Amino acid sequence: MNPLINISNDDGILHLQMNRPEKKNALTLQMYQTLADHINAANNDQSIKIILISASGDAFCSGNDLKDFMQNPPKDESSSVFQFIDALVNADKPIIAAVNGLAVGIGTTMLLHCDLVYASSSASFSLPFVHLGLCVEAGASLLLPQLCGHQKAAELTLLGEPFDVHQANTIGLITKITSDEDLIETAMKNCKKLTRISTEAVQTTRRLLKSTIKPELKKAIKHESDEFIRLLNRDEAKHILQAFLNR
Ligand code: COA
Repeated sequence: MNPLINISNDDGILHLQMNRPEKKNALTLQMYQTLADHINAANNDQSIKIILISASGDAFCSGNDLKDFMQNPPKDESSSVFQFIDALVNADKPIIAAVNGLAVGIGTTMLLHCDLVYASSSASFSLPFVHLGLCVEAGASLLLPQLCGHQKAAELTLLGEPFDVHQANTIGLITKITSDEDLIETAMKNCKKLTRISTEAVQTTRRLLKSTIKPELKKAIKHESDEFIRLLNRDEAKHILQAFLNR
C-alpha cells in the first residue's frame, strides 16, 4: 500500500507529500501524526534546512477526514490534529507549501503558518467551518485578521465561501501563483535557493518574523481548540458531519 504521506530528504529539503488523492488528501489522525512527527524531528536534525509540503493528485487537502473525525473526535490537546498544529507553530525550519488544487479547512489554515506558499492557478481555498457547525482553528482567529483585516477575515470565515487563487494572492495568503505545470518546479527552485543561503541567518530571520506573535498565537490556538471541541460535541455538528458521510 502507498504511504499516506510520502517522505523524502534530499539536499537539506524534507519533502512531505500528502498522498491520499482518492480522498482529496483528507487528513486522517495517522496522517496528522506523521506530519507532526516529521516536522518536530526536523527541529533537531541539522541535515534538514527546509520543509516542503505538497500533495499528490488534483487536490491539496480537503481538510479533516470527516469519517475519522466522527469516529475519533479530538478530545484535548493530545489529539494528533492539535499535535500537527503545534508542530507548525514550533517549527524552526522554514516551511514552503505547494498548493496544487482544493485547500479546504486545515488545508487553508495550515498555509497561515508557512513561510512561502506557491499555488497553481487551479488552486482554490475555503474555510467552511461554520457550515459544519464548527469554528476556525490552527490560529486562524489571530493570523487571518492580521493578514487581511477583520472584515475580510470575517467574510472568509463567517460566509465560508470558496475563494480563488487571485483572491488568496490579494489577501497575502500566498506568495506566488504559478501554472499547474510549473508548481513543484517553482517551489523546489525556491527551496533550493534557501538551502544555499546561510542557515543560521535564514532561521534567525524567520524566528524573528514569528517571535512577537508566538505567545499570542499559542493562546489563540488553545482558545480555538476548546471552542472547536465544544462545538464538535453539539448535535448540530454531529448531524452535519453525519449527513456528509451519508451522501
Ligand atoms: N473527509 C472525508 N472524505 C472526504 C473529504 C473529507 N474531508 N473530502 C473528500 N472526501 C472523499 C469523498 O467522500 C469522496 O469519497 P468517495 O469517492 O469514497 O465517495 C472522495 O473524497 C472524493 O470527493 P468528492 O466529494 O467526490 O470530490 P469533489 O471534487 O466533488 O468535492 C470537496 C471535493 C473537497 C469539495 C468535497 O469532497 C467536500 O466538500 N469535502 C468535505 C470538505 C470539508 O468539509 N472538510 C472539512 C473541513 S473542517
